[in-house]
Amino acid sequence: MNICVIGAGYVGLTTAAVLADWGHQVQVVDVDQSKIDALHQGKLPIYEPGLERMVQRNTSRHRLHFSTRVRDGIEENPVIFIAVGTPPLPNGSSNLSHVHDVVRMIAGCCIGSSEHKLIITKSTVPLGTNEQIYQTFIDHGIHEKSFDVVSNPEFLREGSAIYDLLHPDRIVVGTKTERPVETIKQLYRCIEAPYVFTTLTGAEMIKYASNAFLASKISFINEIARICDSCQVSIEDVAEGIGADRRIGPHFLKAGIGYGGSCFPKDVHSLMYSAKQKQVDTPLLESVTAVNQSQIEYVVQKLQTKLQTLGGKQVTVWGLSFKPDTDDTRLSPALSIIGSLLQRGCQVHVFDPVVKHAPPGTQFYSDMYDAVNQSNALLIATEWKQFEHCDWRKVKSNMHGNIIVDGRNFLDSTMLQAYGFVYLGVGKS
Ligand code: UGA
Repeated sequence: MNICVIGAGYVGLTTAAVLADWGHQVQVVDVDQSKIDALHQGKLPIYEPGLERMVQRNTSRHRLHFSTRVRDGIEENPVIFIAVGTPPLPNGSSNLSHVHDVVRMIAGCCIGSSEHKLIITKSTVPLGTNEQIYQTFIDHGIHEKSFDVVSNPEFLREGSAIYDLLHPDRIVVGTKTERPVETIKQLYRCIEAPYVFTTLTGAEMIKYASNAFLASKISFINEIARICDSCQVSIEDVAEGIGADRRIGPHFLKAGIGYGGSCFPKDVHSLMYSAKQKQVDTPLLESVTAVNQSQIEYVVQKLQTKLQTLGGKQVTVWGLSFKPDTDDTRLSPALSIIGSLLQRGCQVHVFDPVVKHAPPGTQFYSDMYDAVNQSNALLIATEWKQFEHCDWRKVKSNMHGNIIVDGRNFLDSTMLQAYGFVYLGVGKS
């Protein structure tokens, strides 16, 4: 199939690379010249394990092409994926200007053309957006048989994007008619997953509700972890105990410094915003957000209690991205923690395996062991494998103090205590 993917971000690039790997001809278009130039040289604008190799492989097979000529990409291909960014606005809604721009451009290309266009929305868009997209085509005078709009949200996680695309739990397809269903099945013929067919807005809702539910699980376990701290119960035992119940499930029950990234915080807010527009209250989602935000202070307070005061103390933070195996620092809890430490007068030293710029006010180190030199405490904000398997003896001898704050509850507390550290986890000691 001949496909155009508009937007060379996370979702666009991964989707394009996987579709090309399955044998489709894929043209990725993006207005960002520097991104496209880098892609022509086989370099990715993001860090995602395995993606660079997949992109290079399919570029050299001539199945994957990159261009800034968006209009050409639209005109030359019958299947068009919209994967442009929908960044958050201060009021909680999403900025849809990129989506609307490309939709107008596609509709403009359809005028006077006899070729059918299938427009598939991958970008996460607020409830009702795909209906608006459909209406834009009708308003441009395009006959309803000349195009189809499909809402086909993505459920991939950064850091395991390729795996998630190849092994989805379900493929959600929102349509207005049955017409595009066979083409969608052809597109995804290489994967085995159940389909969920629904309306355009139904598919948007499934995407938001999925992310809101996962965010709720995280805030739930974080709140339970605080109670565990107060009565010396291990949150890991509790997560194992409740997660064994198949109705609850073991995933997304990892307590820590809370969720971040470009999806959960934005999508929960966007859902609340959409609900408000319809005069629907969302007390549960408000609490999910409130717990997540206060989790940062909860952990900083724990450290303060141990150190008596944070003013003038040197604290090292390992990990800047919002999760491991990515260089994405958007709404990263690590940055919020750093902000809180700086506000309390700490000197903050930082290290990250892939992020190579220092947050304002901090001192960046390119070596993780140098970063802990003379520090009173080490706070680990991201569960990178290299932190788990580091040389703890060296860490201990480099540090001035002996406090480890495990912001992701992923370290072996007994082993660390044997090295002479004071271990502070979240609902875990
Ligand atoms: C999330 C969803 O998991 C994907 O299904 C979805 O496609 C994506 O958003 C999106 O909307 O595009 P992502 O944000 O990449 O994916 O990463 P997650 O693995 O979900 O982690 C999100 C945050 O939750 C991270 O900060 C992570 O550290 C935190 N988290 C996750 C916890 O604190 N505890 C957990 O048990 C799991």
